[in-house]
Amino acid sequence: KAMRNEISNLVKSVQDLDTKRSFDIEMQSFFYLFTRYLSERARSQELVWDKIKSPADDQIVPYARLSEGSSSNLSTLAVLKVNGGLGTSMGMTGAKSALEVKDDMTFLDLTVRQIEHLNTTNRVDVPLILMTSFNTHDDTLRIIKKYANQQLRITTFNQSRYPRIFKETLLPCPKTADDDKKHWYPPGHGDLYNALYQSGVLDQLLSEGKEYLFVSNSDNLGAVVDEKILQHMIESQAEFLMEVTDKTKADIKGGTLIDYEGSIRLLEVAQVASEHVEDFKSVRKFKIFNTNNLWINLKALKRIMENGEMELDIIVNPKTTEDGQAIIQLETAAGAAIKHFRNAHGVNVPRSRFLPVKSCSDLLLIKSDIYSLQHGQLVINENRMFETTPVIKLGDHFKKIAQFQKRFKKIPKIIELDHLTVTGDVYFGRNVTLRGTVIIVANEGQSIHVPDGCILENRLLSGNLNM
Ligand code: UTP
Repeated sequence: KAMRNEISNLVKSVQDLDTKRSFDIEMQSFFYLFTRYLSERARSQELVWDKIKSPADDQIVPYARLSEGSSSNLSTLAVLKVNGGLGTSMGMTGAKSALEVKDDMTFLDLTVRQIEHLNTTNRVDVPLILMTSFNTHDDTLRIIKKYANQQLRITTFNQSRYPRIFKETLLPCPKTADDDKKHWYPPGHGDLYNALYQSGVLDQLLSEGKEYLFVSNSDNLGAVVDEKILQHMIESQAEFLMEVTDKTKADIKGGTLIDYEGSIRLLEVAQVASEHVEDFKSVRKFKIFNTNNLWINLKALKRIMENGEMELDIIVNPKTTEDGQAIIQLETAAGAAIKHFRNAHGVNVPRSRFLPVKSCSDLLLIKSDIYSLQHGQLVINENRMFETTPVIKLGDHFKKIAQFQKRFKKIPKIIELDHLTVTGDVYFGRNVTLRGTVIIVANEGQSIHVPDGCILENRLLSGNLNM
């Protein structure tokens, strides 16, 4: 009740009538999520661990088994990038997709290149849709402005902005609708369905004859349109496909597909009780994880939205404010929608379709000479002798993007590198080459400057070394 009053006060604080109407709709969606949270909390809606089974064989189709696609299907396709997140783990304050990754191009520029190439080679008109949030909208518009006069059609729409909640009192943090940015949050990529529907973009796509939507994370440069998967979607009459890929020990973040009481579901680490987290992360029990490359039948989506059936598992994200207050954010994940669609299943795709930048170590790899660009797509440099990419572990000093940029005058040449570990206060000069296994450790209170033109091959550098 207290929440309801506070929400109606927030709505009352808006003067402009149009804004008031859309803000009211947004707050109603938030309030619905909040009441679901309260009732689930009261009923302790946790999954029963013993009922969680690995998905059956026919619930995950290997990519190698898919038949050739036909480019004629492309006229029914639209591509959407979820682009509302900030990349907080890399210390970013703007859209991650606005980061320059290669040849002065940002993630968004590369996505535009990929789709332009798809359209020109197949003579089709696949539109690009970007879901932004109040955090990323301006950055996004700034980048796509330069494509305004080109062939490719780019549509943007904003996802929801929900109020953060004080953990103790369960009351909203903002006092008015225009209260400071820090009191609000974008409620996860699962908000995609609601935002597509409410913004009118879903209807617009359907009226243009679009039937399928390919969704992926804006930082996943491996998520290019794949005609085989589209063909499989049409043939199998699946209303929803999730691309999953084989898990390695490093993949502990992504959700996995499970069979729960006979139906297919997404399981995220946040839904797992602490005593089972190690099990969840193990490669043995859960062999695959969700790449967040999703294929959605738009008519089916409309049906589910109109029936009010798009309930997604709530992920409670606890945070602490700048002044030390505990708050929570109620979020949802896009892949959780799999349970609402008919014939929905997973496709086990090659790892190359999952090439995200989750950390500055990932960024170093992608920026390096290991990859080159072909029509906005990253391809492994043909001069690389090994099939695998190097393992790169940059320490905490490289965690934030600003630090990363300061510490590499230029990205080293790493085409012959197997393994790099860097810890401590380390700086790299220009034209550095790293080969084999290189370990650089600057101890506490010391710093290492790798000089311009230096070649390090199978070397361990440590201590206070100013070469
Ligand atoms: P994540 O938040 O799962 O991972 O977003 P991340 O990009 O590594 O970000 P941090 O470092 O944890 O903050 C995955 C994708 O979902 C989008 C992001 O923009 C990214 O493309 N996203 C996330 C949204 O569109 N809206 C959200 O509310 C959250």
